[in-house]
Amino acid sequence: IHNVIFESSQEASILVAQEIANIIQRKEELNEPCVLGLATGSSPIKVYEELVRLHKEEGLSFANVVTFNLDEYYPMDRNNIQSYHHFMHEHLFNHVNIIPGNINIPDGSISNEDLQQYCIDYEMKIKAYGGLDFQLLGIGRTGHIGFNEPGSHVNSGTRSITLDHVTRTDAASSFLGIDNVPRKAITMGIGTVKNAKRIVLLGWGISKAEIIKKTIEGAVSSQVPATYLQQHSNTTFVLDTEASTELT
Ligand code: F6R
Repeated sequence: IHNVIFESSQEASILVAQEIANIIQRKEELNEPCVLGLATGSSPIKVYEELVRLHKEEGLSFANVVTFNLDEYYPMDRNNIQSYHHFMHEHLFNHVNIIPGNINIPDGSISNEDLQQYCIDYEMKIKAYGGLDFQLLGIGRTGHIGFNEPGSHVNSGTRSITLDHVTRTDAASSFLGIDNVPRKAITMGIGTVKNAKRIVLLGWGISKAEIIKKTIEGAVSSQVPATYLQQHSNTTFVLDTEASTELT
């Protein structure tokens, strides 16, 4: 893992958006789809803001972009304002020229019966595009990436998972209480993420300092799933000063 530390998450996010824009444009010149793996939550918001600005003010086109979101709560109706479906449209998709059919977000309303096959199909669809050109990640205090909670297997694929109590606690305020936070989610696996050609993980603020240290300096372990990124040769952690305070 290579890490870069910035004074402000704003400045860092602009550079990450620029890298994504460069990949989109390079793929466009080759007449190829650009396959992006995307995250939700607070960490990537400024990256999406800058991508929207690049589209509106500098002519960045999303016509060749195909996206796969990492995760979605389960069960979850896509029209619910707490859904990741809603989040992505609000922060990015409604403001750029992406083709709606190129947007892939795990469907939190799939029936329990169809869930397993749905996850296999999601995984196969990513493979059919030749894998992810770029994967954007945040990190949870449990060390989860996507919703790959402690115990996740290094080769795991897209599947349903039970959310860790810490993760549900962190989501409680946006759900107006922990009892309203879904107990499960659909998530791309560690294996899915590790197959991406390029990975950038964003970490902002003091609340991430401890898990960032464990992830970068700790032993590789399924107890801290993000440590598996140590085995990926093209991963950069983009941090602010606060999130990097515990690094030696
Ligand atoms: C969300 C996701 C999660 C978040 C993580 C950090 O799609 O994949 O792993 O990145 O929970 O969330 P924030 O950015 O809100 O601190």
